[in-house]
Amino acid sequence: MQPIRVGLMGLGTVGTGVVRIVEGHRDDLEKQVGSPIVIEKILVKDKSKSRRMTVADSLLTEDPRDIVENPDIDVVVEVMGGVESTRELILSALERGKHVVTANKDLMAVYGPEILAKAAEKNCDVFYEASVAGGIPIIRTLIEGFSSDRLTKIMGIVNGTTNYILTKMSQEGASYADVLKEAQELGYAEADPTSDVEGLDAARKMAILATLGFRAEVSLGDVAVKGITSVTREDIVYAKRLGYEIKLLGIAERSGDAIGVSVQPTMVKVSHPLSSVNGVFNAVYVYGEAVGETMFYGPGAGELPTATSVVADLVAVVKNLKLGVNGRRMFTPYKEKKLKTADE
Ligand code: NAP
Ligand code: HSE
Repeated sequence: MQPIRVGLMGLGTVGTGVVRIVEGHRDDLEKQVGSPIVIEKILVKDKSKSRRMTVADSLLTEDPRDIVENPDIDVVVEVMGGVESTRELILSALERGKHVVTANKDLMAVYGPEILAKAAEKNCDVFYEASVAGGIPIIRTLIEGFSSDRLTKIMGIVNGTTNYILTKMSQEGASYADVLKEAQELGYAEADPTSDVEGLDAARKMAILATLGFRAEVSLGDVAVKGITSVTREDIVYAKRLGYEIKLLGIAERSGDAIGVSVQPTMVKVSHPLSSVNGVFNAVYVYGEAVGETMFYGPGAGELPTATSVVADLVAVVKNLKLGVNGRRMFTPYKEKKLKTADE
């Protein structure tokens, strides 16, 4: 059996989880796809850095060409982050016929359409399940699970870092700065945590969810965003006294041919299930005309939950390879006309 060779870009929080799962579940993965999955090269910024996980030195490279231009590599797994240079690397990998799995919402929220178009041109897969809500398979659910329905609303907590901060401030009276530091140490926060606390990370995720759920093109600029930096412990205490928890909620709604998408700190009644989504957990409510109300819950960030989604995408790519259907079962939104946002 020919092994499937993977080029891993990034060996930080998510990359380490990917290596752990590919190695730890090796036999089970091989049984599922009929070939061994082998990590051939790992791109890092600094090879000399000390790491939580020991990998053979020969696996590590600081040169992206060792992955993107390596003829032995079948699938590129991008878990390093970044936008402009990462876009170029991914387009270049696709140009060479490599399939791509990415956890990068910053990239997909901005360049998703271009990347998916290049993938279609080259009959390649681009899967990005881990880009929204870490360990919850919400992207597959929106594309496949609700293909029969017309969704009207997608609402939820889609950033683990801010939910971790708000939970600790609410339950332990912890200080914003201390908990943010903790979330960074736990690997939940983005390299620049401003995008978490200012709501941009959640806005990118809501743009992706609205695009897929409403089968329309919703971009980051369409999302009204307010983060949690101005939420004080006093706000949280007063909200509690009134019977509410403060949560950073993303809401995407469609009414007729108008779509509105927002992310903002919101007072959630303690009787509502979203008020008890705590710590790094995420939850997404999906409302459909036919299905009614559904809720999806799970860890929204962190090493193994996120890597679970990444490796599931890898398995999907390899299964498609076996069937010879890559590029034909993509997570590509069906394109309706661009719908108006609520404030247009
Ligand atoms: P991280 O811990 O900061 O790791 C990034 C890794 O990529 C590091 O190994 C780093 O190398 C490498 N890297 C970064 N820039 C590079 C460059 N220009 N050239 C070569 N190597 C580079 O990041 P992470 O938390 O794993 O997140 C990775 C991606 O997954 C991001 O797109 C993030 O948004 C997404 N994501 C993260 C989570 C999460 O829970 N952390 C969840 C969902 C999605 P060095 O090790 O040498 O520094
Ligand atoms: N920084 C992100 C979060 C990682 O906290 O939700 C998962 O996308």
